[in-house]
Amino acid sequence: MKERKVVLSALDAEHVQRTCRWVNDPEVTRFTGTIYPVGASENEAYWREVRKDRNRAVFGVETRDGTHFGNVELRNIDWVSRNAETVVYIGDPQYRGKGLGNEMLAALFDFAFLRLNLHRLHSRVFAYNRAAAKMAEWAGFRQEGVMREQLFRDGEYHDVIIFGALKSDYENAPCNK
Ligand SMILES: CC(C)(COP(=O)(O)OP(=O)(O)OC[C@H]1O[C@@H](n2cnc3c(N)ncnc32)[C@H](O)[C@@H]1OP(=O)(O)O)[C@@H](O)C(=O)NCCC(=O)NCCS
Repeated sequence: MKERKVVLSALDAEHVQRTCRWVNDPEVTRFTGTIYPVGASENEAYWREVRKDRNRAVFGVETRDGTHFGNVELRNIDWVSRNAETVVYIGDPQYRGKGLGNEMLAALFDFAFLRLNLHRLHSRVFAYNRAAAKMAEWAGFRQEGVMREQLFRDGEYHDVIIFGALKSDYENAPCNK
């Protein structure tokens, strides 16, 4: 397995506290879709429930020297058909635009395909999120469809792109070259 520049770590209390800032940051929510502001106690209760959910796998993402800068998640894991949806975000703006998004998605793919033995992953990307679309392709996602005007944001409808990857797409992707 290829070594990545980031580490997936268990989401502990400190990670959760930091995450509360990020889920209220318009620079993140513009791309992830959160609508309402989230308070600290609501945030803690939410992550407590998430950690109990056997069909979700959530991680804090850290640099190799231990700085937590974002989170990744597998959501709606289907243990029979062996698929899941991916969610990725960099919360700390200093860490965007440095290639770490690619590394975190690749690390999540490694975990999904090589540890959980999933067969397929998918992701929904807002059409105006150019960085996420490029990152998706680097890890092995292919565009599979467009949900036209699925999203209402800032007074307008936007398309949502569906990306999908089979394990074989990931094995042959740039992230493994
Ligand atoms: C999307 C996100 C994870 C990307 O991570 P990042 O580290 O900033 O991006 P990277 O530096 O790894 O760049 C990924 C690719 O997108 C390209 N890119 C970055 N910003 C871009 C932009 N505004 N327009 C077009 N391409 C862009 C990079 O050049 C790179 O392509 P390359 O591999 O061909 O060089 C990060 O910006 C983020 O967390 N954004 C907010 C939340 C979010 O959008 N999450 C994804 C929801 S689907």
